[in-house]
Amino acid sequence: MQINQHARLSCAPMMDWTDRHCRYFHRLLSQRALLYTEMVTAPALVRGQAMHLLDHSPVEHPVALQLGGSDPAELAEAARFGCEAGYDEINLNVGCPSDRVQSGAFGAVLMKDPGLVAECVSAMRSGSSAEVTVKCRIGVDDQEPNVVLPQFLARVSSAGCKRFIIHARKAWLKGLSPKENRDVPPLDYDLVARMRQEFPDLHISINGGITTLEQAEEFLSAGFDGVMVGRAAYHNPADILAQADRRIFGAGEDADPFEVAHLMMTYVEEHIAQGGRLHQVARHMLGLFAGRPGARLWRRHISEAGSRADAGPEVIGEALDMVQSASRAAA
Ligand SMILES: Cc1cc2nc3c(=O)[nH]c(=O)nc-3n(C[C@H](O)[C@H](O)[C@H](O)COP(=O)(O)O)c2cc1C
Repeated sequence: MQINQHARLSCAPMMDWTDRHCRYFHRLLSQRALLYTEMVTAPALVRGQAMHLLDHSPVEHPVALQLGGSDPAELAEAARFGCEAGYDEINLNVGCPSDRVQSGAFGAVLMKDPGLVAECVSAMRSGSSAEVTVKCRIGVDDQEPNVVLPQFLARVSSAGCKRFIIHARKAWLKGLSPKENRDVPPLDYDLVARMRQEFPDLHISINGGITTLEQAEEFLSAGFDGVMVGRAAYHNPADILAQADRRIFGAGEDADPFEVAHLMMTYVEEHIAQGGRLHQVARHMLGLFAGRPGARLWRRHISEAGSRADAGPEVIGEALDMVQSASRAAA
């Protein structure tokens, strides 16, 4: 399957959330959805030589590396490192509004400079054999999205980027926290749908506020090439990912959350054997039984018993027993 097809459903890049442990876990729930790393900044790789930020498991494929930066030469170098590390796609972040990122003049502020984004894309493509894609907003601050978004897509696609993920809201760079910038500026799905029609040669994924697999199916039926889900996939991974292979990709069986939890126990055992801690992995699994009997017991046991320094995979086993008893009681 081509990466474009995997992009029918993707799991969004999320700092501090979609680390390699999270991606391993998500991969057990869906074999086909495209997974994104957290943003890794080009300066961290190129100037800081922080190559450990590229570590990932072969199990994670297809997996995209998201880069942050605005220096074309540095981004080209970082993209090359990403390719050499085996990533299937290199994505440029043009959506992140955080202060730290603004000060480095990258992220959403780049919506104001499509020419520079085009240069970055062109440089990244020269350094990378993997596809280069862009994740953007519909505009920032007082920009008029109806005007700037088509201009942005036209300019950046002319540099060779053929796949875009559009978070369907503006970023307000002053006055809102990064968290508020994910909720407060209103969503404009219709504008992104118009872009889908105006740019038939581009692959366009829609992102922002999608909370169920039904919604994702509706967007695909409406003609979008892909749907990217962030917070819902993290907080409710079984509902978004466990049926995705069958429902979104038309192949494969639904994953069983109980089996996935068992497989994660083996993963945790290996992680601990290498000096890691249960909590680093299990914190991503708190939502596995969300909305199901025993969900609260699961969360509580994993959070409380799982944060002890000597906690091991047995904590997951104990929490699973609690969920199983709760399911039996509810049946
Ligand atoms: C904790 C967190 C961290 C995020 N970090 C990034 C990031 O590193 N790069 C990025 O492009 N977007 C980041 N985002 C934004 C998401 O990728 C996504 O665009 C946004 O959450 C909207 O999608 P959703 O409504 O499905 O969550 C982050 C979101 C969250 C909740």
